[in-house]
Amino acid sequence: MSQAKLNDEKGLVGQPIDRVDGRLKVTGGARYAAEFSAPRLTYGVLLQSSVAKGKITKLDTSAAEAAPGVVAVITYKNVLPPAPPPPQKPNPANQNGPPQKPPEAPFREEIKFSGQNVALVVAETLEQAEHGAQLIQVEYETEKPDVFFEDHLDKAFAPSGSNRPLTSKRGDFEAGQKSAAFHVEAVYRTPVEHHNAMEPHATVALWNDDGLLIYDSTQGVQGSAQTVGKYFGLQPKEVHLIDPFVGGGFGSKGQSWPHSTIAAIAAKTVGRPVKIAITRRQMFTSNGHRPATRQAEVLGADKDGKLVAIQHLAVNHVSASDTFVEPTGSLASMLYSCPNVDISHQLVRVNVDPPTYMRAPGESSGSFAIETAMDEMAWACGLDPLEFRLRNYAETDESEKKPYSSKSLRECYRQASEAFGWSRRNPEVGKMRNGRWLVGYGMATASYPANCRPASAKAVMTAEGRVRVTCATQDLGTGTYTILTQIAAEELGIDRSLVRVEIGDSLFPMGPGSGGSCSAASVGSSVQETARGLRRALLEMAAATPNSPLTGAAPDAMEVSAGRVSLKSDSHKSLTYSEILRRNNKESIEHLGNTKRSDEASKSHSMHAFGAQFCEVHVDPDLRMIRVARWSGAFAVGKVLNAKTLTSQLHGGIVWGIGMGLLEETILDPNLGRYINTNLAEYHVPVNRDVPPIDIHLIEEQDLLVSPVGVKGAGEIGITGAAAAIGNAVYHATGKRVRDLPITIDKIL
Ligand code: MOS
Repeated sequence: MSQAKLNDEKGLVGQPIDRVDGRLKVTGGARYAAEFSAPRLTYGVLLQSSVAKGKITKLDTSAAEAAPGVVAVITYKNVLPPAPPPPQKPNPANQNGPPQKPPEAPFREEIKFSGQNVALVVAETLEQAEHGAQLIQVEYETEKPDVFFEDHLDKAFAPSGSNRPLTSKRGDFEAGQKSAAFHVEAVYRTPVEHHNAMEPHATVALWNDDGLLIYDSTQGVQGSAQTVGKYFGLQPKEVHLIDPFVGGGFGSKGQSWPHSTIAAIAAKTVGRPVKIAITRRQMFTSNGHRPATRQAEVLGADKDGKLVAIQHLAVNHVSASDTFVEPTGSLASMLYSCPNVDISHQLVRVNVDPPTYMRAPGESSGSFAIETAMDEMAWACGLDPLEFRLRNYAETDESEKKPYSSKSLRECYRQASEAFGWSRRNPEVGKMRNGRWLVGYGMATASYPANCRPASAKAVMTAEGRVRVTCATQDLGTGTYTILTQIAAEELGIDRSLVRVEIGDSLFPMGPGSGGSCSAASVGSSVQETARGLRRALLEMAAATPNSPLTGAAPDAMEVSAGRVSLKSDSHKSLTYSEILRRNNKESIEHLGNTKRSDEASKSHSMHAFGAQFCEVHVDPDLRMIRVARWSGAFAVGKVLNAKTLTSQLHGGIVWGIGMGLLEETILDPNLGRYINTNLAEYHVPVNRDVPPIDIHLIEEQDLLVSPVGVKGAGEIGITGAAAAIGNAVYHATGKRVRDLPITIDKIL
């Protein structure tokens, strides 16, 4: 490539460029976990429990073991036990802590949920392993499972030790409620939902001289490597986890699930590589779900439509062994200005698999309750729903008593409502029509916390002027490769084609798990810092290069463009990066950058992304079919790194909000405690016909408190408020208020 054609890439950050990995993806060149292989690979198939509660009384694996091709059958009887935890260091700060518990063996005699792993059959081929799994004879002593948490609310307990605040109180809720002129009291419910990432979970594990090598599908290559390694007492460096591409995670790959450890155990047991690919059906019990929630909401407003009381009492189900909180009250605590607030969360144990994070855990399900209740209150006060929200606009985070680092929600309301044409809304119920269909307009507020975690990245420039950037982050399909390429190219002033970003490898410099919408903020910051550091080092090297046009130049007297360093005062005095390295006899130059959000900023400010959702629904007056007809959303999520991938994230969140609002629900059999719609034919996700034109507006913010690169994160905010906006529009069209998701035809007939 001739130098003349190289782009200086100024202004590349923010541009809606195509994905740098797009071609690999559409040509099948991007490899996903289950596509990796190894010499002498074997296949593992899991047998899972058909009962939800009880005990294995008979487990006969002899027929399976004798079947053709079967290499091993692993059950609770013969599973390699976990390594004992390392001896506690004599650290005085540690002495009062509980002793470290060893990891639990992944197979047990006792059954606590339907779909619990009972055995792994390892065979020469996948078909032989599947056949072997069918030959295992299991008998259970069964007990009646607890299936629906609302039948057991008397056993609700307050959890401790969540990383999110579980109670939030200010003022005097009772007194506020007594003083209110208008009241809304309602219970909102969200069902069990499953992530159903396009790429099912899969692990290929093998042992070599360096330790354990795993190909896995995960939202955190380093976290997952550590979880699996812990079972064997391995140090982080002894587990090498590789995951170059992830076909969606949405929280289901936010932690390492038992199948990954089982694959490593099996590989050790049989002395050969083992591949376990979780089936679509097994994904319903093997990697978590969004727990069912019950959210009792009480709002009080004075005669002017000013909120004076908010109460949000939430309960979600958990399994027999976890204390996962779906923090549905997080938005109710801070979204609106209100002096008297009472938020709390409780859990109820039932016989289901452990729930986990699912896209905007807490905010998505919680926004359905608070944003529907706000709509109900707007009707009660006789106010337009948007006007009602503006009257209760929170200038500061009243739950934390802190200013926001930035908040552009008013601008979101303005742009989205104008684009949508909210002013054309007839304020009465059932008065708008499109042909024979009833028309409803609905809106809701969107918000999600802005997270930023410590991250490192390394950049190495070779004498050819090419740069390799590495970080142990991962691209869930969101565009991480692309934005990191944009940042590195712009900061270094080199053509994007010369930047190679490598991620998805646990041995690369430290990267956080991709959860809580934190990756662009965290890793974008570290790559920016790393590229700047490398540029500084190159400028210093240029100035120290004897007998060159740049000898002795001060760093700020130079600029970089198209791979060339020149004097600002005389652009003819210049050296290319390659020339700088070659004149100094260097093969390469590198820089490692570390970033984190400033601790002072975290203490002094509340950090959230905000948005506004507006939608139109059409409801068939006789058959009550519901169609989302169009959508406008405006979002303020800090700096825009790539307008295309960012819009795509928000778009995807809204599409999922349509699923959450109208379609998605995993149904439990009341007697068996078993999910009954464990496939994509019966677990309905939106298809193209369900998704209308979605119009996204980005309101860019300058906020360097949220993260060094200025990003707030956008992976999750798009789903927040979406289901409520649909429900509010359905109410406007029909006068039917549906308080339990999904809003299906039968509920508005
Ligand atoms: Mo997200 S649910 O924090 O992966």
